[in-house]
Formats: sequence, structure tokens, C-alpha cells
Amino acid sequence: MASPNSDHSRPLKTVPGGYGWPFFGAIKDRHDYFYSQGQDEFFRTRINKYNSTVFRTNMPPGPFIASNPKVIAVLDAVSFAVLLDNSKVEKRGVLDGTFMPSTAYTGGHRVCAYLDPSEPNHAKLKSFFLSLLASKKDNFIPLFRASLSELFTNLEDQVHDKSKKNTADFNAQNDEMSFNFIFQLFFDRKPSESGLGSKGPAHFDKWLFFQLAPLITLGLSKFLNCLEDLLLHVFPLPWFLVKSDYKKLYDEFYSSAGSVLDEAERFGIERKEACHNLVFLAGFNAYGGMKAWFPGLIKWVGSAGESLHHQLADEIRTVVKEEGGIGFGALERMSLTKSVVYEALRIEPPVPFQYGKAKEDMVVYSHDAGFKIKKGEMIFGYQPFATKDPKVFENPEEFVGHRFVGEGEKLLKYVYWSNGRETEDPTVDNKQCPARDLVVLLSRVFLVELFLRYDTFTIEAGRLLLGSSVKIKSLTKASTTA
Ligand code: HEM
Repeated sequence: MASPNSDHSRPLKTVPGGYGWPFFGAIKDRHDYFYSQGQDEFFRTRINKYNSTVFRTNMPPGPFIASNPKVIAVLDAVSFAVLLDNSKVEKRGVLDGTFMPSTAYTGGHRVCAYLDPSEPNHAKLKSFFLSLLASKKDNFIPLFRASLSELFTNLEDQVHDKSKKNTADFNAQNDEMSFNFIFQLFFDRKPSESGLGSKGPAHFDKWLFFQLAPLITLGLSKFLNCLEDLLLHVFPLPWFLVKSDYKKLYDEFYSSAGSVLDEAERFGIERKEACHNLVFLAGFNAYGGMKAWFPGLIKWVGSAGESLHHQLADEIRTVVKEEGGIGFGALERMSLTKSVVYEALRIEPPVPFQYGKAKEDMVVYSHDAGFKIKKGEMIFGYQPFATKDPKVFENPEEFVGHRFVGEGEKLLKYVYWSNGRETEDPTVDNKQCPARDLVVLLSRVFLVELFLRYDTFTIEAGRLLLGSSVKIKSLTKASTTA
């Protein structure tokens, strides 16, 4: 069968759209994107205007942070897949899009996530990470269950606390839980027993904000938009303001990571470079990923309502009872729970943007046409549009818990959250998240713990800088046990 990007049966077209006047076109697109239209509307209006899911546009931040904001957007499930083909696109320095934060944020090193697989350092670092994760496999479930136990106790306390208006701040608790989990996973001790105390998440938040500010809007009043635009999107924020936060993290990691760094040396990676990579892995990839992802998961499951909650509770309690506990085998048997996790990853992929530079002149196919793209042009995918493509997914805007059960599993090849198809595996030759299986596993364990404890729960959801904000309004204790 011909792959979607080599099928010649569709007509060849010139990529529609454009970049407007030099400099001013990019600023107009930036204002449309952040302020006058907003993310989704920005893309939707252009799809309608050009009657095409592939078109040219500028992407923020533009001047003066990005020297070239011009991209070709690919916004359907078929054309988006070109970004997953590392023989076609170069991923050097494109993690955040058309700009790359100063390497001062990573100790002067271009860390793994900013490397193209063709660069020898990528294979060295990624195989080290894959081996590090494999060595911790037996700790994943027990450690995460212990972390969740603290999380749910804290959430319950807040829901019962009148001074907190009987509302629990899920995001804050999730940040703490995620940081504790990652730190303990790598270093076998609690961050509270380290020099970081309880400050780890705050240091990482500041460090993340400084790097990602060009892509963020704070959602202020209309009058403050110009000021925000000037402060966040025109010049990079000065690194020196976050230097001491990074140093505290780095120093603590360096002193905690002795045996992990010994192992890195066996992979041919010098200790300091390995440690800067480890800070990025823990803070940007893992903590940043979990910070964006778990609120999204709980938002979608919470909004799905009681009927789905009861079905999940039923499946989870039955399997746990039959298996006598929660292990890899038990989780594998929970087909609804698995599907719900994939559905949340589909409907709101936690990392919504992917970029890659064309490695050669090529033709990229959408459902209905082929588009010529020149070597060196930047291709950009807004993933939520690809994974809500109505030509692939029925009722794409609807959260359908059972979507990936049984025959539905065939659609997993269109689930792209990990920067790869869910049916493919992360390797040193691709850019797929090496923690793909870990993230899916933790998400299942999250739902299992949730529905072993509670029959149902209610939430209030909103937007935050990186994803969703979720407040827990009620937690109804389980009426049956496993
Ligand atoms: C919910 C949590 C997570 C999410 C949503 C997530 C998502 C992603 C995505 C989308 C990418 C590809 C980025 C790109 O090139 O466009 C990626 C890459 C990566 N992730 Fe994750 N990730 C998560 C957790 C983790 C964890 C726990 C680790 C390690 C412990 C990790 C390590 C990495 C690394 C090293 C890369 C770069 C891979 C490469 O350069 O080939 N991630 N992740």
C-alpha cells in the first residue's frame, strides 16, 4: 500500500496562503493568533479562506525573536504525518518552533530534544534515556501509586476545607506530585530530603516560563495586550533572571545523580553534559509534559460525567479483584480505561505543536491534493486539528470514551501525541518521546487509583498558560471495593 505521502493519485497544487508584507505580515499574524482570533480560530479561518488544510502563514513569535516566522501549516491527519518522517524533515533546534531559546538555559548544550536524529549525539543521549527508563521499570507502578495516594489525600482535604471554598486546585497538587515522582524515580529519594525542599516545581516553572514566553499569552485585558506582546513576544526574556533557579536545580541534580551519571559515561556522554540533559529531561520533557497532560486527562474524564465514571469504576474494580492487584497484566486487560486515555490524548494532545524543516524538495499530500514544498521550508503542524480530522474520526470534537475499544484500535495509528504514531515505537532514529509507554502506563494507573477510591467526581475547567486549569469540586467515595 502506498504511504499517504507518496500517493500520486491526487492533483498537485501550489500551497495557498502567504506571509503578507515583510515584518508587518508576521506582526499581524501574531496579533491574530494571540489576541484578535485566538489559537483555534486562527487556523480555522485560514482553512476556510484557502479551502485547504495545507497553507502558508507566519507563526509566532516572529520579529525580533525568530529570524524567519514563515511556515507551511499541515492541519489534517494525512499531511501532518510528514512531520513524523525523519527522512523527510529535519528536527534540529525546532522543538519550540521558529525560534530556539538560548543554550544558556541548558548549560551551553543543545540537549537531546533539540537534536536531529542524524546528529551523532542524538543516538547517544536517547539510548542513554531509553536505558535509564528501562532500568526503572519495576518502580513505575509502586512509586506512582504512592505519589497518587498523597495527591488524592491532599485533594480530599481541600475539597472538605471550607476556607478553600470546598474546591481543590488540581494543577498545584499535580505539579507537586509530578515533580516528586520524577525526582524519586531517578534519584531514589524524596525532593523534601534534598536541598531543593519543596521549591523544585517553582524553580522549574520559572525556568520553563522564560523559555516558552514567546509562545504564551497570559489572557490579560485588551488594554494590556500590547504591553504583554512587547514584553513576551518581541525580545527574549533575560536569562540572568532565572540563572540562580537553574543553578540550584543543576547542583542538586549533580549531587543526587551519581550513579546515573556514571551510567551516562558508559554511553560516552561527559558528566556535565549528561547532567544538563538530565535537568532538561526531568524539568522540560517530564515535569513540563505531566504539568500539561494530567489536568487535560482529568478535565476530559471529569466532563464526561457519571455514566462513564461508573463504567470505568466497574471495569477497574472487576479486573483488580480478578488479578488480585494492579500490575502490567491487569492494566492491559482494562480496555475501556485504555481507550479513555487514548481518547484524551487524541482530543487534546498535551504538546500541540510540531515543526520540521524539509530535508529535500518534496510533495506533501493531504486527503485531496499534493503540495510541492521546497528544501529548507519550515513545516508546522497544529496537532489538535490533525487528531480531530473529521475524515478520520467520527464526531471528532466529542469525547467518546469507547472510541479505541475493539475495532477502534485500528485508529490508534492516527494518535500522534508522542510525536509518533501510537502504533510505532520510540527509537534512536526517530523523535518520538522515549517515555511514550511510561506516560500511557501512568495515565492508566491514574484512572485506576481514581476509580478505586471514588465512584464519581466533579470539576470546573478553564485555561492556563500550558494547557487546562482544573478545580475539583467534589469526590464521591467508592461504594464498592475491588
Ligand atoms: C505526559 C508527559 C509527557 C508528554 C506529553 C511528552 C511529550 C513529548 C513529545 C510530544 C515529544 C516530541 C517533541 C518534539 O520533538 O516535537 C517528546 C520528546 C521527548 N520526551 Fe516526552 N513527554 C512526556 C514525558 C516524558 C518523560 C517522563 C520523559 C523522560 C523521563 C520524556 C522524555 C522525552 C525526550 C528525551 C524527548 C526527546 C526525544 C528525542 O529527541 O528523540 N518525556 N515528549
